Amino acid sequence: MGGRPKVLVVDFGGQYTHLIARRCRELGVYSEIVEPGSLEEALGSGSVRGLILSGGPRSVLEQGSPRVSERILRSPPVPILGICYGHQLIAHMLGGRVVSGLAREYGRVKVRVVERDKLLKDIPSELEVWMSHGDSVAEPPKNMKATSLSENGVITSMSDGEKIYTTQFHPEVSHTQHGKTVLRNFLQEICRIPPTWKPRNMIDEMVENVRRTVGGERVICAVSGGVDSMTTAYILSKAVGSNLYCIFVDTGLLRKGEGKRVEEAARRAGIKNLIKVDARERFLTRLRGVKDPEEKRRIIGEEFIKIFEETAARIPGARWLAQGTIYPDRVESGRAGKGSALIKSHHNVGALPERLGLKLIEPLRDLYKDEVREVAEELGVPEEIIWRHPFPGPGLAVRIIGEVTEEKLRICREASAIVEEEITKSGLQREIWQAFAVVGDDKWVGVTGDARTLGYIVTVRLVESVDGMTADWPRISHHILERISRRITNEVPGVVMVTYAITPKPPATIEPC
Ligand code: XMP
Repeated sequence: MGGRPKVLVVDFGGQYTHLIARRCRELGVYSEIVEPGSLEEALGSGSVRGLILSGGPRSVLEQGSPRVSERILRSPPVPILGICYGHQLIAHMLGGRVVSGLAREYGRVKVRVVERDKLLKDIPSELEVWMSHGDSVAEPPKNMKATSLSENGVITSMSDGEKIYTTQFHPEVSHTQHGKTVLRNFLQEICRIPPTWKPRNMIDEMVENVRRTVGGERVICAVSGGVDSMTTAYILSKAVGSNLYCIFVDTGLLRKGEGKRVEEAARRAGIKNLIKVDARERFLTRLRGVKDPEEKRRIIGEEFIKIFEETAARIPGARWLAQGTIYPDRVESGRAGKGSALIKSHHNVGALPERLGLKLIEPLRDLYKDEVREVAEELGVPEEIIWRHPFPGPGLAVRIIGEVTEEKLRICREASAIVEEEITKSGLQREIWQAFAVVGDDKWVGVTGDARTLGYIVTVRLVESVDGMTADWPRISHHILERISRRITNEVPGVVMVTYAITPKPPATIEPC
C-alpha cells in the first residue's frame, strides 16, 4: 500500500480492533492493524500519519500486559489516540494514576464534556457512550487534562491538547453517540489526513501492481463461485488477459447451479481460459463409507489439492497462483496460533502454492469483505455472486451428517436451493449470514395417500452473524418457514419432515459437521 497516508491501529487483543480499522476506512482514511511488537518497524514506513492504541482484555496494572515503547509516547512521531486499554496505558506510562475497581462501567453511560479540545469538537456537552472497563484513570499524567467525565465521576477522555488524545469509551461502537465525529475529529482535525481512501479507486492500482509483479508470466486462479475468488479473477483478467488460467473444480459438493454461475461470470469478465474439472465421481468414491466429520474434511482437502496439481501441470509455464485472501484472513491467521482452540479444521488450501512451486499473488489482501464487494460491483461481477452467502470449502459434505451419498447430496442441494430462494424472495438475503438445509440419516414415517413411507428429515439452518465466530438464529415470520417447509416436502422427493434449528453459536457451530 506504498505511500498512501494511513493510520495504524495497535492491536492489544481487544474485540473491537477490526471495527476501529474499518471505521477509519469508512471515514476515508486507509488503516492497518499492527501488533505492539511490530509498531516501531511499521512507523518507519513514512506514510503513517496517526496511531490508535485500541482496547484489550488485560489490565495495564498486570505484569506482562502489552506495552508500546515509552519513547513513542514521550515524543510522539504522529498524533496518538488511546481507546479504553490505550487510554489507561497512556495514563500509566506517562506518570498518571490508574486504579482497579474504582467504578466498573459496562454498556451505556452518560458523559459530560468539561474541557473542549479538538477531539470533542462539535460534540454536545452531554452524550451517551459505550463503556466496558474495570480499571480507570484516577489522575491524568502531568501534561494532560481530563476533557470529559462520566456520571460516576470517571475520567472518560483526556488530552495534552496537541498530540495525545484518549477516550475511556469506545467511539467505534455504534451505541456511542457522535462516536463517528470523535474518530473523524482525530483523523481530520488532529492528524490532518485527507479523506480520500475509497476501495473502488484502488482498482487501477491493484491491476497495475499485478501487471508489474507477474510481468508476462502465466497465472493460475482457482475460482469457486464465491465473491473473493471471482473478484480476484476479474482483477487478474484485467491485468494479464489471456495469461490467466482459471480452474473450477466441480467436486459434486457445490450448491445448485454453481457451475453455470461461474461460467457466466467468467464470460462476462472476458476470461478466455476457464478449465472446468468434473471431479464429482472422484470425491464421491473417496467419501464412500466415511462418517467422521474431520475425516471427511481431510479427504476433501487432500483430493482437491491432488486434482488442482494435476490440472495445473497441464498449464505449461505457469509461475503464479492468485488467491482471494482478504484482510481479516491474514490478520486472523496471524493470531490463530496464540491460543485459539481448534474447533474444526477449516479446509483452506494454504499449502497449495508451495506444493505447486508457484509464487503467490493476493490482490485483495488489504481489503475487508464490504470493500471487496464494492470493488466487485465496480468491476461488474454479477450481483448474485457479490451477495452470495459464505460457503465452506468442503461444501455440502459438512451439511450432510454421516456418510455422503448421492441421495443425501441431492436432498441437501435441492432443499438448500429452496431455502435460499425463499429467503431471497422475502428480502432477507443480505441480513442473514447463511441459509441452508442439512440432512442426516434419521428417518420419519410419512403418509402419502394411503401409503406409509419412511423419509428423510431436513433441518433448516438460518443464522445471523457478523463474522461467523458467534451466531444466532433469526426470529423470522412463521409464514416464511411454512413456505420453506411445504416446498421442501413437496418438491424434494424422499423428504418427509422439515425442522428449524434454533440453537445459537455457541454452543452449536453453524455447520453441523
Ligand atoms: P462453524 O461451523 O465452525 O462455521 O460455526 C463458522 C463459519 O465458517 C464456515 N466454515 C468453513 N469455511 N472451510 C471454510 O472455508 C471450512 O472447512 C469451513 N467450515 C465451516 C461456516 O460456513 C461458517 O460461515
